[in-house]
Parts: sequence; structure tokens; C-alpha cells
Amino acid sequence: MNIILLGAPGAGKGTQAEYIVAKYNVPHISTGDIFRKNIKEQTPVGLKAKSFIDQGKLVPDEVVIELIQSRLSEDDCKNGYLLDGFPRTIAQAEALDKITKIEKVVNIDVDLTKLLKRIVGRRVCVACGASYNIETYDKPDCAKCPSQLIQRPDDKEETVRARLEVYQNQTAPLIEYYRAKGVLKSVDGMQTISEVCSRVEKVLEQA
Ligand code: AP5
Ligand code: MG
Repeated sequence: MNIILLGAPGAGKGTQAEYIVAKYNVPHISTGDIFRKNIKEQTPVGLKAKSFIDQGKLVPDEVVIELIQSRLSEDDCKNGYLLDGFPRTIAQAEALDKITKIEKVVNIDVDLTKLLKRIVGRRVCVACGASYNIETYDKPDCAKCPSQLIQRPDDKEETVRARLEVYQNQTAPLIEYYRAKGVLKSVDGMQTISEVCSRVEKVLEQA
């Protein structure tokens, strides 16, 4: 199944993606994760993306589209995939329509006024990338490997505010775009992680 997870920064896309990819045995393609890996490895794509990400702005469409086009052509995508964080603009969605057929778009619907606290509280493992929140896990080290937890550089309050504004202006219109195509399902993302997970599973099982 070809699935898109749509949602504001901090809506829980990465968190829910972990469960979905395990259940459907498809690759998790997060453009944010791909950029962070490229930044760490100081590749040309990473160097191009860094200044945009640090300011909470979107990386230019042509850079992201080229990256996704190449990723979706890899062998592990033949039986489906889960896109997390792509598309993020109407231009990206239109480009995606030319590459592939999307079967389900799950929109994790959240109260934008409550997201700032959630994102600022996120901590990620420097080694394995596992994600936590200080609300539920307030320790300096990862529970899965013995490495340090840090705050993502773009999770500082000022940058999060910029990301939320970018979401409202450039990404939220995708909800209508996919609704009009009849592939959109929305779930309430303000429930507990496991409750959101069962609701996501339910909509993915619907015809
Ligand atoms: P990206 O990494 O995709 O960031 P994002 O979309 O802003 O989303 P996040 O990863 O912050 O949130 P999430 O929805 O995954 O939430 P999570 O599950 O971690 O992109 C980063 C940057 O890269 C962008 O700003 C842009 O610059 C660039 N970029 C990426 N894709 C691009 C594209 N297509 N075009 C252009 N530029 C692009 O959860 C967040 C926290 O909340 C965690 O601590 C978690 O434990 C907690 N949590 C999750 N669910 C719940 C719940 N139900 N209740 C309570 N807490 C919860
Ligand atoms: Mg994420």
C-alpha cells in the first residue's frame, strides 16, 4: 500500500509511522530524517538543506522532489511505502502524482495551539534516532541504546513557531487537495499515542 502521513510539525507522524511500517512491512520514508542524515554526513544535499531547516523554512521543492523520485525508484518501494513529511506543498503533491499512485492519505489532526509544548519537549537519540518526550521520559540517555538524548536544533521555540506558520500557509492546503481526490482519512491526533495508533490502523483497513 502507498500511504502518506499528513500532519503539522509534532502531530505524531514519526511516532505513528513506526507502528504502520511494522504492520504493513513497507519502508518508512521521512524527508526530514533523510535531510538530517545528509546534514550529519555533510553531503551536497545536506549542505543545501541545512540553512532552510535551521530557520524552520521548507527546503526548495526541486531539491525534495528529486530526492523522493530517486528514493521511490529503489527496490524496497515496489510493494508500497509510507511517506512522512512529503508532500508538503501543492507543487510537491502534483509532482508525486506524476511519479506514483497514492492509495491512502492519513491526516493526523491536531490542535496547533498545543503543539509548541509537545515539540519543545521532544528528545531524540544521537545514535539510533529513537524519539521521546520529557513529559513521559525525562532521562539523559536512550532506553534502546546507551547514547545521549538531545533536542533537535529545529525544536527550539522560535524555530517551532516558524515551522507551524509554514505548515499553515503551505502544507495545510494539502488536506483539501487529497479530500477532493477521495483518498483522505482524518484521525484525532490529540488522543494518547496508542489511541491514535488504533484509529490510524482502523482507517487504513477501511476500503
Ligand atoms: P520533519 O522532520 O518532517 O519535521 P516535521 O514535519 O516538522 O515533523 P516532526 O518530525 O517535528 O513531527 P512528527 O509529526 O514526526 O512528530 P513526532 O512523532 O516526532 O522535517 C524537518 C524539516 O525538514 C522541515 O521543517 C523542513 O525544513 C524540512 N523538510 C522535510 N520534509 C520536507 C519537504 N517535503 N519539503 C520541504 N522541506 C522539508 O512527535 C513529536 C513529539 O510528540 C514526540 O516527543 C512524541 O513522543 C510526542 N507525541 C507524539 N504523538 C503524541 C500523542 N498522541 N500524545 C502526546 N505526545 C505525542
Ligand atoms: Mg517526524
